[in-house]
Amino acid sequence: MNGSESLAKREQWGSRIGFIMAAAGSAIGLGNIWRFPYLVGKDGGAAFVVVYLIITLFIGLPVMIAEFAIGRAAQKAPVLAFKSLGVNPFWSLIGWTGTIAGGFLTLSFYNVVGGWTIKYVIASLTGLMDVANAGNSESFFGHFVGQSYEVVFYQVLFMLVTMGVVIGGVSKGIERACKVLMPTLFVIMLILIVRSVTLPGAEAGLKFYLHPDFSKLTGETFLDALGQSFFSLSLGLGIMLTYGSYIGKEENLPSSSAWTAGLDTLIALLAGLAIFPAVFAMGFEPGSGAGLSFITLPAVFAKMPAGVIFSCLFFLLLFFAAITSSMSLLEVAVAFAIEKFHMTRKKALYSMGIIIILLGVPAATSLAGYPTIYGKAFMDAVEYVCNNVLLPIGSFLCAVFVGWFWLPQAIKEITNDGKLQFRWLNTWIWCVRFVAPIAIAYIFYAGLKW
Ligand code: PHE
Repeated sequence: MNGSESLAKREQWGSRIGFIMAAAGSAIGLGNIWRFPYLVGKDGGAAFVVVYLIITLFIGLPVMIAEFAIGRAAQKAPVLAFKSLGVNPFWSLIGWTGTIAGGFLTLSFYNVVGGWTIKYVIASLTGLMDVANAGNSESFFGHFVGQSYEVVFYQVLFMLVTMGVVIGGVSKGIERACKVLMPTLFVIMLILIVRSVTLPGAEAGLKFYLHPDFSKLTGETFLDALGQSFFSLSLGLGIMLTYGSYIGKEENLPSSSAWTAGLDTLIALLAGLAIFPAVFAMGFEPGSGAGLSFITLPAVFAKMPAGVIFSCLFFLLLFFAAITSSMSLLEVAVAFAIEKFHMTRKKALYSMGIIIILLGVPAATSLAGYPTIYGKAFMDAVEYVCNNVLLPIGSFLCAVFVGWFWLPQAIKEITNDGKLQFRWLNTWIWCVRFVAPIAIAYIFYAGLKW
């Protein structure tokens, strides 16, 4: 056994800005750029956006503050965090479900889509525009995912890049990468938006995106918005708890949470602004589901002047967003192995990496038809269970734990032992005690269907 890492002083983020970039890097991911716009398209446009914003403010943000507080107080990754707080062992359930759902299950399918982004950057440069121009972007995508060996190849490649960063550790690996990638992502996003909104005919897209029609709301809209908010903010899986355990004691948790959630929401909203005007301007339909980024957008880019450049930039954006999120998922699995099995970071990284790669293989091949679970492709099934079941349950338990069983300590943690003024403390308490648990339970009950 090599216990040196667990005995050594716990690693911390190098700076406040570095930590916020890393937390935002985790939050900002495929969820913002791939998933958010396609849910907007599927769930009725601007009305979904409004529901999403309300849920994020009153449920997502308070739960994020709670996760950071638990992590920083415990100084441990999720599985051992509750033990270290000395609370009833039942709560360790949050740590276990989070680690399994996040570090392993979510990451296994996340890598698959992450791999697609690499494929599409390369394809953009090698003829995707011609294919899309000929109206074949759908069959291109179908052909690609139908050939499992290629999907697996890119999945593994994506995972190896993630591992290459995480091996550097918290501040020298993850933080350093995010400090470069996140600003770059922002610049690429701005370029794409300027292109999109200046296309002739962009107004129809802006209208779809910005004018709510509340008659379109259904139970599913709320469940989708809730699941998306948690997914996008990286909540309910112990990610922010783990990142919280690397935060210094003097850091202002509510303000860091507000920055992280704010940046995440901003990027999701901007992604819609980059995508919908262009989709409408080029005469496409926004409601094409998961294929919006990979099928509709290449066709949109193909019709633009210099489409190759914009296509390449877009998929690069998607790649950067995805890789900074997958680092956070992997960090949870790695921190778990270091603390639970007293492994060195290297050993933890290799063993967890291999398990996650293997778990991703059925997700990758399921797109070609096998395996399926009760009629859903394996990947869709895992995604559904994680986002609509495990994430809400994890977040529900976090809110209940903090709101009802650990509130005095949580307040102490959030206010840095009373040294810090948190103006919204009462609102926050109200949200974690009542709003979040009740809303999650209700939406969960009303909207869940296979
Ligand atoms: N928040 C990331 C995204 O929006 C995904 C993610 C979920 C990352 C959960 C970590 C944990 O893509």
